[in-house]
Amino acid sequence: MNAEPCTYVIYGSTGNLSRIKLMPALYHLDAANQLPEGTRIIAIGRRPWDQATWLKELRDMIEQKVKNDFNEHVFKRFAERFYYHRGDLHEAEAYAALAELINSPEQAFSKNIAFYLSISPADFAQVMELLSVNHLFEEEYGWRRVIIEKPFGYDLDSAQALQKRISQYLTEEQIYRIDHYLGKGMVQNVLVFRFANVMLEPLWNRNYIDHVQITHSEEIGIEGRGEYYNSAGAMRDMLQSHLLQMLTLVAMEPPVSMEAESLRDEKVKVLKSIRPIPKEAVHGHSFRAQYAKGSVGGKKVNGYLQEDNIPANSTTETYAAMKLYIDNWRWRGVPFYLRTGKRMAKAQSSISICFRHPPLQFFRDTHVQCMNPNWVLLGIQPEECIRIEMTVKEPGLEMSTRTSSLDASFRNQNEKSIDAYEDLLLDVLKGDRSLFLRFDEVEYAWRIVDPILQTWAIERDYIATYPAGSWGPEDSRRLFEKESQSWRSSLTPEPCKYEG
Ligand code: BG6
Repeated sequence: MNAEPCTYVIYGSTGNLSRIKLMPALYHLDAANQLPEGTRIIAIGRRPWDQATWLKELRDMIEQKVKNDFNEHVFKRFAERFYYHRGDLHEAEAYAALAELINSPEQAFSKNIAFYLSISPADFAQVMELLSVNHLFEEEYGWRRVIIEKPFGYDLDSAQALQKRISQYLTEEQIYRIDHYLGKGMVQNVLVFRFANVMLEPLWNRNYIDHVQITHSEEIGIEGRGEYYNSAGAMRDMLQSHLLQMLTLVAMEPPVSMEAESLRDEKVKVLKSIRPIPKEAVHGHSFRAQYAKGSVGGKKVNGYLQEDNIPANSTTETYAAMKLYIDNWRWRGVPFYLRTGKRMAKAQSSISICFRHPPLQFFRDTHVQCMNPNWVLLGIQPEECIRIEMTVKEPGLEMSTRTSSLDASFRNQNEKSIDAYEDLLLDVLKGDRSLFLRFDEVEYAWRIVDPILQTWAIERDYIATYPAGSWGPEDSRRLFEKESQSWRSSLTPEPCKYEG
């Protein structure tokens, strides 16, 4: 698919996401000559700025983010693409003014238009309605696409209501629901690793895999997002979206092709096959906790309740874990453990696949005391790696063993990493929706977590805590179905836990 010239209209262009992700990603695309000739960007903001003030702000955003990669020549070309348009998204006149600007012959904006809504989710529907009323979604002279950030809804009901409302204005083909995890190179590599290598496929099932863990831990806290975070919590913020998406890629059947619908069909099948968690089983399948004060990277940090804009009695979770079963032929009986937390010991995203133990009789009369199972470890970030742990003989006269790790690193030292948003923003220009979410994916993901959220919403008297800077609450161990299972936090071989 080729990227076509377009006009990017960015709502919320002076906001945080724009500053740290969108503008730097567009700059990098421009630097890599990936923005088609004629691509322009209308930055919409509420502030009464003129073009010069906006460009100064833009330079600031880019310089801060790209640092040594800043190139005056590229920035000049990049800056020329911009038009700062003052507009309050709650005022109807702002949309008429935008339509006039877009249609003005002097400006000659491309009529392929991508609207990026980097705004509060509460405003999605109203902004779409007003864009629609002003005929900005009509595709007579070019395509019209709308990109929306998560969260799509607050729970199943609100997601369905939002979908019902926005489908009055847009077709499904025009909607690009972002889950930025799908733009990460290593997340895409999960598919390549699974479907381009024949070696593992025969083992990728309940006969050989003991369990799967997906972890996303962060050192940072809520970073000034208190108001949003306190109403969302870790389950909505990370698990319902990013972690369930990673689970679908690990568990899906090979799609017919890499084309968007085939890929998304297979992901939806996984979500549909996840065994529903009845309300009475919520505690056996999920765990939530909140960080208390502690120290991260040698620095003392506050507990969640001491953060700005957090009510003193909040029971919002900053750590969430759950156990899921996928009831299909491939996975029946294999637990998938997912966990995420803020203010944890280390920032890391990883997928760890633990294989079953081999029968040990063979080593009965030897010194082999301990054999770790095989693991496949996929480091998503910051370390991007693929490792397979195997047991090998230790050199020497005795028959004893140790764990060795086969390394298929994703990136060589001289290869630059690409931010997820670069990939996704370019896919919008190409009309490639394979890395965006279809509504049924969002809907089924809500169905999975809704019973947990409903139970937690009622239980407001107590929440477990964990010290900031730790690996989370010890008690979350109760999710494991066997003694031999425990959270895996490292991507290097661990000491033997299992005595043969
Ligand atoms: C966002 C969440 O979607 O993902 C944040 O709202 C979280 O709370 C972030 O920090 C993590 O993304 P990344 O790319 O930094 O791992």
